[in-house]
Amino acid sequence: MAAMTMRRRPAMEVVVVVVAVVMMLGGGARAGGPLKAHYYRHACPEAEVVVREIVTARVAADPAALPARLLRLFFHDCFVRGCDASVLIDSTSGSSAEKDAAPNGSLAGYDVIDSAKAVLEAVCPGVVSCADIVALAARDAVSFQFGRDLWDVQLGRRDGVVSLASEALSNLPAPTDNFTTLRSNFAGKGLDVKDLVILSGAHTIGVGHCNLFGARLFNFTGAAAPSADPTLNAAYAAQLRATCGSASNNVTAVPMDPGSAARFDAHYFVNLKLGRGLFASDAALLDDRHAAALIHDLTGQDRFLAEFKNAIRKMGRVGVLTGDQGEIRRNCRIVNSK
Ligand code: HEM
Repeated sequence: MAAMTMRRRPAMEVVVVVVAVVMMLGGGARAGGPLKAHYYRHACPEAEVVVREIVTARVAADPAALPARLLRLFFHDCFVRGCDASVLIDSTSGSSAEKDAAPNGSLAGYDVIDSAKAVLEAVCPGVVSCADIVALAARDAVSFQFGRDLWDVQLGRRDGVVSLASEALSNLPAPTDNFTTLRSNFAGKGLDVKDLVILSGAHTIGVGHCNLFGARLFNFTGAAAPSADPTLNAAYAAQLRATCGSASNNVTAVPMDPGSAARFDAHYFVNLKLGRGLFASDAALLDDRHAAALIHDLTGQDRFLAEFKNAIRKMGRVGVLTGDQGEIRRNCRIVNSK
C-alpha cells in the first residue's frame, strides 16, 4: 500500500502541474507581460514619430490649451478600466459610453488621437493601439514647451472593448472630494498618496469651470453675506467671485495655476500653500500630514519633473491590457466588429 502511494505521487504531481499550467493559459485572454520601451520598433517603426509629429503640429497651433487636454484625456482613460482607450469609444444607441458621462463633458483632444490613428492605420494597419497613442500624445503634448521628452512612454497596451458612462461616474475623482476619498480612489488604482500629490501637479496647466468650484465662493458658510471657503485665500476668492459671477456658471473657465498657467512647472504647489488651490480636491491635499509634507518639499522644478515622470509612468500602467487581451481597434471611436 505504502509502495503504491509512493509510486503514484509523481503522477499526481504531474497532474497538479498540468492543471496549474492549463489554469494559467486558459480562461480566454492572456496578459502578455509588462509594457516595453519601443514596443513597435519592429512591427511599426514609424509609430512614435508619427504621433510626435502630429501632436507637435497641433500643439504648436494651440499651445495654451491642447497639452492640458491631452494630459487629462490620458488620466481619464487610465482611471476607468485602466489605460485601454475606453474613453475614446463613442456611445451607441443601446449604451452610453464614458465620454458622455458628466465628468468627461469637457474632455477634448479626441480629434488629435483620430488623426494619429488614421495615419498609423495607413502605414501599419492593425498594429498600434489607441491606448498607446493616448499615452504618447500626453507625453508629446506636455513635452512640447521643453523641446525634449519629459518622460519615456512604455508601450504595448491593447484596446478595451467596453466603455460605460456609469463606470466613468463611479471611478473618476470629483473636484469636491475630500482627502480620504481621493486617497482611496487612487489606492483603488494601485497609486499611493505620493502619486496622488504629484499627479495632482498636472493642474499646473489647464483650466477649471466655475460651477466645479463655485460652491467654495458663494455663501459657503450658509450666511446671507458672501462668504468663501476659509481655506481659500481671501483675495483669490474675491477675484474668482468677480470672474465667475455665480456658483453655477458652467461657461466661464479660469486657469488652475494663476501666475504660471501656461508652464508645466511646480508652481501649482506654490499656489496650494498660499490657499490658491482651485478645487476643494486640490486644497484637500493639505489636510493630510504626509501629503502636506510632500507639498512643502516639492517646489523645485527639477524635483517636480523627476517625481512627475515616475508617477505618470506608474499611472500609465494602471489596468493595462497586454498580450492577447482586448484588441487593436481600427477606429479609436468604435470597437472592432467580430
Ligand atoms: C486628484 C484628483 C483630481 C480631480 C478631482 C480632478 C478634477 C479636475 C477638474 C474638475 C478639472 C476641470 C474640468 C473642467 O472644468 O472642465 C480638471 C482639469 C484638469 N485635470 Fe484634473 N483632477 C484630478 C487629477 C488629475 C490628474 C491625476 C491629472 C493628470 C495626470 C489631471 C489633469 C488635469 C488637467 C491637465 C486639467 C485641465 C484640462 C483642460 O484645461 O482642458 N487631473 N481636473
